[in-house]
Amino acid sequence: MPELIIRFTEADAARELRADVRAGLTDSPKWLSPKWFYDAVGSDLFEQITALPEYYQTRAEQQILSQRALEIAEVTGAATLVELGSGSSEKTRLLLDALRKHQTLQRFVPLDVSGAALRAAVEAIALDYPELRVSGVVDDFTSGLSALHAGTGRLVAFLGGTIGNLLPAERAEFFAAVRAALQPGEWLLLGTDLVKDRQRLVRAYDDAQGVTAEFNRNVLRVLNRELGADFVPEQFQHVALWNAEQEWIEMRLRAARPMRVQLAELALTVEFAAGEEIRTEISAKFRRERVRDELSAAGFELHRWWLDDAGDFALSLAAAR
Ligand code: SAH
Ligand code: TRP
Repeated sequence: MPELIIRFTEADAARELRADVRAGLTDSPKWLSPKWFYDAVGSDLFEQITALPEYYQTRAEQQILSQRALEIAEVTGAATLVELGSGSSEKTRLLLDALRKHQTLQRFVPLDVSGAALRAAVEAIALDYPELRVSGVVDDFTSGLSALHAGTGRLVAFLGGTIGNLLPAERAEFFAAVRAALQPGEWLLLGTDLVKDRQRLVRAYDDAQGVTAEFNRNVLRVLNRELGADFVPEQFQHVALWNAEQEWIEMRLRAARPMRVQLAELALTVEFAAGEEIRTEISAKFRRERVRDELSAAGFELHRWWLDDAGDFALSLAAAR
């Protein structure tokens, strides 16, 4: 049986959710943090997003991984693969296969804040890779990286462009924390979406079928369930826009009319003007120099930089200095 270590409990989540929602919905402009998207329904909606025609990122990263996995196995010779924000770990199988072929890998440590998604992933991986020691860790990668301390000869994978969901200051803190947990010569494999045509970027976050809109509104359903709130999700319009100055996509929820929302468990009433927005997520897009410089500032040296055939997405392999 694979092990599942819970470092971020339901009680931790409940406490943080309350503090976070109070801070975000009483701020101006209003905001919510993206980790609350991923309840069981949200994780499932994200998996649907990865298959959308407009959402090129998953296929692009999959292509790079299939072309480079053996090289990654050869260069790193990893004994432990840690994956942050692992979700379904579907693409990660390409790495596991290559590392298995290379005969160095002993341990796989996927970490995710979503216990439901992680449990399913860990069970599926353990079945298909019976020789591997699989240790799932439920934790928040912005505050707990204790999973990183497991094992030796580590390769830390952070895929899916999830790094772009952190603000620049959070990103710097995150890279520094990952670096602090590693020994010189250990590795970071980082997936980043690249700056490109605005239309394509916006469509990737505002698809024709409305799956991304449902994903975005799902955070309101989480608040209704967990905090006894009375949001009417259908009364919030999904907005995705490109911030050219910051080079990030912003996701927002826009109130269709004036509203008063009660959050019973917080004893909080929140007023919305017609058209008022909640920022729910950013997704930063990168250029090579920025990735190299941010990694370098944290004590990593960029060793390889790979693109998919269309040049949409990058995978970086960096070594701890
Ligand atoms: N790596 C997968 C999933 C990306 S979606 C892929 O490339 O397809 C982002 C994942 O990060 C989700 O599974 C979500 O639950 C997780 N996540 C988001 N914020 C997190 C946080 N603060 N700590 C840990 N995991 C987080
Ligand atoms: N890491 C993903 C990204 O930034 C998460 C994501 C994809 C997402 N689509 C989304 C988050 C829509 C919120 C809404 O691409």
